[in-house]
Parts: sequence; C-alpha cells; structure tokens
Amino acid sequence: MRPVIIAANWKMNTTPADAGDLARTIASRTREPGVVRVICPPFVCLAAVRDALDDPGLAAPDGGRAAVGAQDVHHEAAGAYTGWTSAAMLAGLATWTIVGHSERRRDAGETDGVINGKVRRAQEARLHVILCVGERLAEREAGQAERVVRDQVRGCLDRVGAPAPADQDVDWGAVPWLTIAYEPVWAIGTGRNARGADAAAMAGVIRETLGELGFADRGEAIPVLYGGSVTSANIGEFLAEPSIDGALVGGASLKPDEMAGIVARAGVTAAARLEAGSRPGEGTRRDAAPTS
Ligand code: 13P
Repeated sequence: MRPVIIAANWKMNTTPADAGDLARTIASRTREPGVVRVICPPFVCLAAVRDALDDPGLAAPDGGRAAVGAQDVHHEAAGAYTGWTSAAMLAGLATWTIVGHSERRRDAGETDGVINGKVRRAQEARLHVILCVGERLAEREAGQAERVVRDQVRGCLDRVGAPAPADQDVDWGAVPWLTIAYEPVWAIGTGRNARGADAAAMAGVIRETLGELGFADRGEAIPVLYGGSVTSANIGEFLAEPSIDGALVGGASLKPDEMAGIVARAGVTAAARLEAGSRPGEGTRRDAAPTS
C-alpha cells in the first residue's frame, strides 16, 4: 500500500525568525492519521523548523510526525562549490529533499544529468527524495508532454535503481526513498491546475518508465504526487485518482487554513486505502474516497 504524502514547498519564503511559528501552526492543524507530512523551508530555516517540529504534541494520533525537507542538494558530495549545500550537510537538519524542481531547471540551468547526480548524492545521504518532473506549456500544446516526462524520468534516474544494493540495509520506514512529483510547469504558481485525469495519465507514464528502468514491481511502490496550484478546493480531484498519492504544494503551503484543508482531504484517502488494504481479497490501491 502506497503512503499518502502532502509536502509543503515554501520556496524562497519565510525567515529563521518566523518559519518555526508557521511550521508549528501548520503541524498542529494537520494531525491527520495516515498522512505523511513534509515541510520544505529554505535552507536557512531548516534548523528553526526542525526545532519547532520536535514536539510530541504535534504528532498525529497514530504517532506520525511532520518531517523536514530541503528544497535542493548539490550534485557533488563536497568541494569548491561556493554557496551550495551538499546532501551530507543536511544530516540532523532534514530527512527529505526535493530535487529537479522546474524553477531550478529554469533559473539554475539544471539538466537531467545534473539532477541525476543530486538524486544519487541524496540517496547516499539516506534522504527521502522528491524528484520533480513536468512539461512546459509549449511542449504540452505540441503533444510532447508524455515524451518530455518520460525523458526526464529516464535521465534523472538513469543507473539509480531501486533500491541500490547499498540501501538494502536501510530502514526507510513505511515510505520508499523515492517519490516522484509530476508538476506541469504551466500549472505552477499560475492558479491553473491540471485535471485529475491528466495527472493520472502522467502517473501511468512515470510508472511505466520506472518499470523500464528496472524498478521493482514496475514502479508500483513509488508514490507519485501532483504539484501545480494545489489548494484545499482542488486537492480532491487529484486524490480521487488511485494512481496519485498526494501533492507537492507551493503557494497554498504557506497558509495554515489551506494546509489544514488539504491534509484533511488526504486523511480521507489514507483511511480509505488502509481500509481497502485490510479487507481480505481486496487490492491495496483502491481509493474509495469521495471525489471532492
Ligand atoms: P504552486 O502550488 O504555488 O503552484 O507551486 C507548486 C510547486 O512548484 C510546488 O513545488
């Protein structure tokens, strides 16, 4: 049974002075059993968020704690890279990291090859990885969306494997080390979200590609999230798709009311999956949750 994950990408927002309070408020209002919560603040706010979340009172009733994630790591382990942060430097600060976000592909010129290095360094550092993929508007309009996403998955995960032999001794808990976020570039920060069916179709393409790359069970164990203008009002459309396992949330993740609504809806899916998984003879991927 795949976990349901809601990850908050705060991007270049908050400061060390206010990030802890925001994280605490969000965590206290999203204590939904069965939902994996991840908060990804800027690097300079990681320690404040870690400290704020280190409070047993913020755990969900099932004991689930909100985790801390970084927004990026460097593709090399160490060296003369002024201003960058390596995966190993996150030890004690974060247990997750985003890599390959389209804003970094756009603004920092990150290629699939570079992102492949980031995935490897993060995996070596035992971080849970959220790998972002997604096509641009012109690519979608040209009918190239599936090819673009397939190429990104292939390039970013080339020779990565799952799990790498060195990882077989690692206890990743209930959440696999790798999660993929499908974030169509035209839907990010635009208020224009994809349809649930588009996201589900792309999840199919992603898992098919994972299968070609040799991931176990044809990628069925790897969570796929949707990202792009997710709000409490539209999250239901995505979670109604059995192939979609949650969301990577940008703008709305800075708003406690929005996060409360998004995670509450995710809790419905998590409970439905748990129930379906515990019924003898039932598939584990059925989602009996309502569509909104
Ligand atoms: P928005 O939710 O603001 O569109 O951002 C999505 C995103 O880029 C998450 O990584």
